[in-house]
Amino acid sequence: MMVNIPFQKDYAEAYDFLYQDKNYESECDLIEEIFRKFASAKIRTILDLGCGTGSHAIPLAQRGYRVTGVDLAEDMLQQARLKAHSLPTGQLAFLLEDLRRLSLPDQYDAVLMMFAVLGYSTTNEDILAALNSVSRHLKPGGLFICDVWYGPAVLRQRPEAKEKTIRTGQSEIIRNASGTLDIFRHLCEVRYRLRHLQDGQVLQEAEERHIMRYFFPQELAFFIRQAAMEQIHISSFEDLARSPAEDTWNVLVAARRL
Ligand SMILES: C[S@@+](CC[C@H](N)C(=O)[O-])C[C@H]1O[C@@H](n2cnc3c(N)ncnc32)[C@H](O)[C@@H]1O
Repeated sequence: MMVNIPFQKDYAEAYDFLYQDKNYESECDLIEEIFRKFASAKIRTILDLGCGTGSHAIPLAQRGYRVTGVDLAEDMLQQARLKAHSLPTGQLAFLLEDLRRLSLPDQYDAVLMMFAVLGYSTTNEDILAALNSVSRHLKPGGLFICDVWYGPAVLRQRPEAKEKTIRTGQSEIIRNASGTLDIFRHLCEVRYRLRHLQDGQVLQEAEERHIMRYFFPQELAFFIRQAAMEQIHISSFEDLARSPAEDTWNVLVAARRL
């Protein structure tokens, strides 16, 4: 059955298998590189919004930061908690909240929204609500880091139908993805079909629909500014020295709280 709320149980349980080729440790190196380049004071506390299964939050906590992860999907947080069991709660905590309506008592040295989390806020109002939440939870001068889908590249390259097969011991997970653009709203509807097979037999099957917003550079800088932050960096996600272009689907953005 096609579910409209993404990251349900089957998808959440398959998530880390599906992204085992994503190098989260080197993404944490990248995050630390941005800290070194732009932070005005030592970064000690991090709020990871849309933390998912904790694949940035956990290594960052292991590197000595105090990290709070927030996510709307209980099943994703459950995976995160399983992985984080050996870390003390003072070092790492996970909260089930909608980041757009978040109101925590603390302000942080840095806020992250990694792996297109901002794109799940699809209307202008929701994007502003998300960015205002970032701003509310940042200390003045604090850093915001996110990556988003870059509109010029999405329109140039267009989403392609893809199949990914992951072998997990005796069984395999097959994910089919196809995307459709709504160019007027800057949205891509991605349909995922997930099958878990063993000896050719389907053990589990699930479908999800993810609606993702892609961003253009001027609107992004404007949204960030509206939320009392200043954009200080935008580049290809893979290479901080490379300007966004029509072949950079993912871009990395950093901003500073005014
Ligand atoms: C593509 S996953 C990224 C997870 C993680 N940051 C990573 O890099 O693997 C997007 C995550 O954002 C979360 N998310 C999307 N919108 C959210 C919202 N409004 N509030 C909290 N979490 C949200 C989803 O539940 C999902 O776990």
